[in-house]
Amino acid sequence: MSPPVAAPTFFPAPAAQRTAPVGTVERPLPVIIDSDPGLDDARAIALAVARPEIDLLAVTSVGGNTDVRHCTENALRLLALFGRPDIPVAEGADDALLGGRIRAPEIHGAGGIGTTVLAPSPAAARAEAAVDLLAATLRDHPEPVVLCPIGPLTNIALLLRLHPSLAGRIAHICLMGGSIGDGNTTAAAEFNIYVDPEAARIVFESGIPITMMGLDVTHQAVLFEPAVERLRALPTRSGAVGAELAAYALAREGQWYGTPRMSVHDAVAVAHLAVADLVAVADYNVRVETGSGPARGKTVCDGLARRIERQGRSPNAQVGIAIDRDRFEDVLVEAFARLP
Ligand code: BDR
Ligand code: CA
Repeated sequence: MSPPVAAPTFFPAPAAQRTAPVGTVERPLPVIIDSDPGLDDARAIALAVARPEIDLLAVTSVGGNTDVRHCTENALRLLALFGRPDIPVAEGADDALLGGRIRAPEIHGAGGIGTTVLAPSPAAARAEAAVDLLAATLRDHPEPVVLCPIGPLTNIALLLRLHPSLAGRIAHICLMGGSIGDGNTTAAAEFNIYVDPEAARIVFESGIPITMMGLDVTHQAVLFEPAVERLRALPTRSGAVGAELAAYALAREGQWYGTPRMSVHDAVAVAHLAVADLVAVADYNVRVETGSGPARGKTVCDGLARRIERQGRSPNAQVGIAIDRDRFEDVLVEAFARLP
């Protein structure tokens, strides 16, 4: 196989050595997921709970696929389903930094997880806001923590603005969002960035090491009907729910794109933290378009080193460019097989 390169661009940026840390069984990576569950968010949370290379410290919710109150409840119920109701959940921002609320019921259903009904969790959300739980965890944890935002970046931008001194406690931000090529919500913009471009801009300009898993790689991370069957065959409640969520997503994406499939966007960001060589990444300078025109929310990704340098900039993110789809499916199914 020839070395992976970013496909949709004129200049195909070459794969680079990853900078994101990776957990091991002996030394699990401390991670906080910031999420708007969400069909693919559910799978990302399942993966983080199941993989011994990840120590999931907390889940914070953000409005995105659905309103934040649904996202919070979904996070609580998913963690209970996966056998970890003890993992703290705190509710975050509902609206974008500058106001405005964009949702995705056409893909995720009105409540965020299709038509699936999950049992209530024995746990409740923490009394403090997401930003406060993020700040306290960063401050108190003995090691720097990896943030894994898989929804709009509102909470993370608020954290960086309210607690700039804690930036040094963030080991890495491994996020799902953006695209080198086309968008999905608009022709230019991917959903998580489009919902709150001003927040995304703050994050990409923060100087914190970032890995961006955008549509270029997450549209390669797809499941088809046989994967649903594999999940359905698991003798567990988590397996049954995993199959139900995937079947719903397959049908919805089929309506949008013409082929039944599920792009498991968010789980790619988590998988990168648990499996060292699953995703190939390349160095990019990423800027976020915050104007009001048709490119609003676009991530302008430059992977041509000489051009970046000539403009006095430097790479500020690694961007996912390729993933081994078959292995990714195995990673997901094996994760569900470990859950109750
Ligand atoms: C992203 O948008 C959401 O709908 C998904 O959960 C994912 O985080 C993909 O564009
Ligand atoms: Ca999401």
